[in-house]
Amino acid sequence: MADAYELFLEKLRKRKGLDLTGYKRPQMERRINSLMRSVKCDSYDDYLDLMDKEPQHWRKFIDTLTINVSEFYRNPPQWEVLQQKIIPMLLENSPNLKVWSAGCSTGEEPYTLAMIFAYNFPRVSVSILATDIDEEVMAKAKNGIYNEKAVANLPRLYITKYFKQEGSNYIIADEIKRKVRFQKHNLLKDVFDKNFDLILCRNVVIYFTEESKSALYKRFHESLKPGGVLFTGSTEQIFQARDIGFRLVSSFFYQKA
Ligand SMILES: C[S@@+](CC[C@H](N)C(=O)[O-])C[C@H]1O[C@@H](n2cnc3c(N)ncnc32)[C@H](O)[C@@H]1O
Repeated sequence: MADAYELFLEKLRKRKGLDLTGYKRPQMERRINSLMRSVKCDSYDDYLDLMDKEPQHWRKFIDTLTINVSEFYRNPPQWEVLQQKIIPMLLENSPNLKVWSAGCSTGEEPYTLAMIFAYNFPRVSVSILATDIDEEVMAKAKNGIYNEKAVANLPRLYITKYFKQEGSNYIIADEIKRKVRFQKHNLLKDVFDKNFDLILCRNVVIYFTEESKSALYKRFHESLKPGGVLFTGSTEQIFQARDIGFRLVSSFFYQKA
């Protein structure tokens, strides 16, 4: 029989359209219980009612569970490998590249890509799709206004060329904004587009169960062109990479054989 947590997940899926079954239970339960304590709710039903009545609690729930922190040029050495080794390798295969930033949060990752292409590969035609389950983070992405912390790791040359600074705000240039198409998408549920040369899925799967992670990596493999590359986060190794049909070309870069 389903226990209280499982019933809560079922109701959450029906009432809110959010399916947390693919996420690790201990981490989720700990966070949800702490949120409930903070608003003095003793039961999951009371908490669901409160989230229905007062949308700010629903927002807080989403923010707490999905953890959407990001930054430009996160883990710089990996972006250097991408620029110096992976992109030139992909361009040997195809002159136009189709790229997907999956779990893009507030846009720092797809905009970093757009700047790298604009600055270093100006003649390459690249389409960049950026998706996330959370529409509100993408609204922030489309706004394109960031603080100093978000750009702290970004090489100066990109900041100078592609941002306007107003007070403590860094406003991204329209020419970069125009290169990224944002779309709502749930990686555990929705259909994947095909024929990508490059997919980035970084710092998204940390709370996914092993089963959902493994299913996800298989689906990414299917969505890549032969020779295409999946770029993962710096704590995310794909243990069954060879079985899926990936070969490691550099740490955190998996190529479809
Ligand atoms: C920590 S951010 C990562 C942002 C960026 N990739 C980076 O590395 O800086 C994780 C993002 O994954 C998104 N996310 C979580 N579960 C998801 C799912 N099932 N489908 C799509 N996006 C999801 C969250 O909404 C959040 O914006």
